[in-house]
Amino acid sequence: MSKDFISTSEIVGESKHFYNYQTLVCAEHGEFMSATFTLKGESRATSCPVCVSHKRDHDYKKQLKEQEQKNQLATIKAVINRAAIPPSFEHCTFDNYVVYAGEIQTKVVNNLRYFAENFAQAKTKNIHGILTGSTGTGKTHLAAAVINELIKRGYTAVFATMSDIVNTIQSTFANKTQSKQSVIKRFIDIDLLIIDEAAVTNRDFDRNEIFDIINTRYHLKHPTLLITNIIDDLKLKLGHRIISRMQQGKFVQIFNWDDYRLKESNNLGV
Ligand SMILES: Nc1ncnc2c1ncn2[C@@H]1O[C@H](COP(=O)(O)OP(=O)(O)OP(=O)(O)O)[C@@H](O)[C@H]1O
Ligand SMILES: [Mg+2]
Ligand SMILES: [Zn+2]
Repeated sequence: MSKDFISTSEIVGESKHFYNYQTLVCAEHGEFMSATFTLKGESRATSCPVCVSHKRDHDYKKQLKEQEQKNQLATIKAVINRAAIPPSFEHCTFDNYVVYAGEIQTKVVNNLRYFAENFAQAKTKNIHGILTGSTGTGKTHLAAAVINELIKRGYTAVFATMSDIVNTIQSTFANKTQSKQSVIKRFIDIDLLIIDEAAVTNRDFDRNEIFDIINTRYHLKHPTLLITNIIDDLKLKLGHRIISRMQQGKFVQIFNWDDYRLKESNNLGV
């Protein structure tokens, strides 16, 4: 294939320049008729028409592929925007999380930091986990820190409450532009899914949808973390099928210390 692709159409505008034809040989496609002409004082010849057409096809496919990648990114972004970290948790990092309950708290922070910083390993080990503990202990704060860290590292990570997910699925029933399957697929494709307030349901519908998402993610080795106040509640509401999946990786982080907000007001003397 000649390096210099020139088709006759490209020199139409240059027709005032003299040109005539000669037979040339393309190493791949054999003989072809080439127009020779002078362009800006330089003598040029048009390339093999088969090569020119192949290059056009190739460029077109490349363009399609780029467009497809852009669309995919936009879809992921749409999910992230809908199921994003609430603005009040956007600033949350591991560094601005204060340790005030000694070793047990340090261990939980380190485990979650390790999980985020070694996410490729977490995927290989197919780690699924639970963050549990009473209110104000920083479960959502550290979950947001994990998501922020992963996004920084180029992963797709989404934080959603269980009702965000269920509502997004249900919204497809009245919406003809998005199928239920396509929405579910997005929750499945994401590298890390964190489901907050995972026990706030009494409905079989929610249980089944969440189970399907977690189960498929499990088989694809896409980690999921569930957050709940009461682990027994999680068992009761989501059922043992989900809990056994989540406990296989033995990544259960127990937030067993006082409410940060009480600590903060104590420090302030309130
Ligand atoms: N150790 C901490 N250091 C700094 N900020 C903290 C810490 N723990 C909690 N916070 C802050 O306190 C607020 C409450 O914490 P958070 O919402 O993460 O608790 P939670 O365990 O998710 O509670 P709930 O079970 O009620 O959802 C948040 O603004 C969070 O950023
Ligand atoms: Mg929370
Ligand atoms: Zn050719």
